[in-house]
Amino acid sequence: MKGIILAGGNGTRLHPLTLVGSKQLVPVYDKPMIYYPLSVLMFADIRDILVITRPAELPQFQKLLGDGRQLGLNISYASQEKPRGIADAFRVGADHISGEECALILGDNLFHGANLPSLLRRSAQRLRGCVLFGHQVADPRNFGVAEVDERGRLLSIEEKPERPRSNLAIPGLYFFDGTVVDTAKRMMPSARGELEITDVLRAYLEDGTADLVWLGRGVTWLDTGTHETLLDAGRLVRDVQHRQGTRLGCIEEIAMYMGFIGADECHALGAGMSNSPYGRYVMDSARSYRQGQPPARFLEET
Ligand code: TTP
Repeated sequence: MKGIILAGGNGTRLHPLTLVGSKQLVPVYDKPMIYYPLSVLMFADIRDILVITRPAELPQFQKLLGDGRQLGLNISYASQEKPRGIADAFRVGADHISGEECALILGDNLFHGANLPSLLRRSAQRLRGCVLFGHQVADPRNFGVAEVDERGRLLSIEEKPERPRSNLAIPGLYFFDGTVVDTAKRMMPSARGELEITDVLRAYLEDGTADLVWLGRGVTWLDTGTHETLLDAGRLVRDVQHRQGTRLGCIEEIAMYMGFIGADECHALGAGMSNSPYGRYVMDSARSYRQGQPPARFLEET
């Protein structure tokens, strides 16, 4: 399965933080925002990843992540000249997808929780048409919202409804079959001038091939698009890390535990940042891995 991280957009709600730079490079506590969605794709065992950015910021992402080889990944880049909407990712990313299944994650979405890696891998394996996720939130009015029947099956999808039919928001992570590019090509821009992801999801729903997977209470989902939610995300990352002595979204460690790179390579990546607690953590993690810490436990507790 191919992966796409959509990391363009205007980031206007974060002004002035994003006046001269990308939202997805803003720090969420100790690492750039994009590390978090990248780690989600890695947990889903996706290694061929396209990062879509604004043209001006593409070189910065390239400098940060390179071609991904150091993480055992293949990372390529494409730019979106204008923020034409989330479903525009399938136009920009058409060559990358090239008829294969693909996962799309928004570059400002952060997930954390027990069993998330296995949930993602299971969802990818069971893919029929598309998989979208549902997560309960107190106020869903700013999100895509899923209406479900009494058995939890998907009935309808609404974008930012005034009067939501449920509390089930749809996070910015989706799996699609190989027909998504053709489906997206049929879509017209909405009243706000964007190619809407909800229209693509609705097309699958009408075909009877859209599956909703509930992210239970064990999973936390945050989008980091406002000053408040950015701070909330930073606090969450800090609190979990301090209490547990682990790191969230640590791409070097995840690459090692997923078997994409070896412990020596992971250690070398940490050594390149050894003046920071993050770098030292990566080195320590490589040392414990060498001493036989079971990978399954790491993957399920993340
Ligand atoms: P949004 O948060 O909807 O938009 P934005 O990032 O431009 O921010 P703001 O509303 O503050 O102006 O975008 C969600 C994610 O999708 C975010 O990571 C940016 C990305 N995105 C693109 O890369 N291209 C697009 O055309 C759109 C609409 C979003």
